[in-house]
Amino acid sequence: MTATSARPDTMMALRAHARGGPEQLVYESAPVPVPGPGEALVAVLAAAITFAELTWDASWTTRDGRDRTPVIPSHEVTGTVAAVGPGAGGPAVGEEVYGLIDFDRDGAAAEYVTVPAAHLAARPRSVSDEEAASLPLAALTAWQALVDHAALELGERVLVQGGAGGVGVYAVQLAAILGGTVAATGRAGQRGFVLNLGATSFLAPSAGDTSGYKAVAPDGFDVVIDTIGGAVLDASYALARRGGRLVTLGAPPSADRAAALGVLATFFIVTPDAAELAKLAELVDEGKLRPVVSQVFPLREGRQAFESATKPHPPGKTILTVP
Ligand SMILES: NC(=O)c1ccc[n+]([C@@H]2O[C@H](COP(=O)([O-])OP(=O)(O)OC[C@H]3O[C@@H](n4cnc5c(N)ncnc54)[C@H](OP(=O)(O)O)[C@@H]3O)[C@@H](O)[C@H]2O)c1
Repeated sequence: MTATSARPDTMMALRAHARGGPEQLVYESAPVPVPGPGEALVAVLAAAITFAELTWDASWTTRDGRDRTPVIPSHEVTGTVAAVGPGAGGPAVGEEVYGLIDFDRDGAAAEYVTVPAAHLAARPRSVSDEEAASLPLAALTAWQALVDHAALELGERVLVQGGAGGVGVYAVQLAAILGGTVAATGRAGQRGFVLNLGATSFLAPSAGDTSGYKAVAPDGFDVVIDTIGGAVLDASYALARRGGRLVTLGAPPSADRAAALGVLATFFIVTPDAAELAKLAELVDEGKLRPVVSQVFPLREGRQAFESATKPHPPGKTILTVP
């Protein structure tokens, strides 16, 4: 490891020693990770959580399926490069970075985290640590859904199911930035917030009555991004036009239902991409893309942060800060 300053051997971290929900999370001392070849050690300033991440298999296992408890959650980070491992290109020691951390390795709910250096990008400079940490997983997911998977074109009609969620707030903004005409769904009371993000129509998601959607896009939407799943996903196939694209985030779509309606339906898992993160940072620093922070918890209250999923909370991402 190439080091520039002395670091402690141990750090405080949020860890789970057994698979489960937020009740498994404990704030405790853990070893400071050592960056391997190609990796950077990042001193964490802020990290964001995804409420569903504790339900994902990859959060608990190595890439080849072995149990890797104790695990550290929270896979989006902003911080300072504290050291780099052998052969690590990318950001230098001292640079302020942000990034998405692969789900099959420890996350950033800790004072330090190791990340492949090639997955890190310079953080947006014009926003707070908390705001920068709200972007890597959520905004990259939205970008990859719209650009890499839906291949959104200028002037197309986009529907974002769940426009006030962690991913949804970025899907609405990016779809508008990319030249789409955006409709979004959300809870009653979120209309003003969602319209402010750049949507031109706001709808309450409905499994049965599709008349609201039909009024906005009589022939169906060119692109539907579903961040909700369940009954809302079930209703989403018929909301895309024949030849339109449906991108699902929670679970793979039904190929049969998609084929029957002539819709191209895709599920994907977001992947780290430093070039796309650099583009997102540019949009933020140009004042075009607005980070949305829902609530902020100190790292030691990380369990409460995960538990807040079931309580009323403002739209956007939930953040952990490291003093
Ligand atoms: N495939 C990938 O790479 C990837 C990446 C990131 C996330 N995901 C998945 O994408 C999904 C969304 O993630 P997220 O972080 O955006 O979650 P989130 O912050 O919980 O957002 C979901 C949004 O949908 C709203 N919602 C849920 N049910 C609703 C309903 N019946 N009517 C109206 N609104 C409803 C939620 O409102 P409330 O908060 O009021 O419930 C929330 O605003 C999750 O399933 C997650 O696992 C996938």
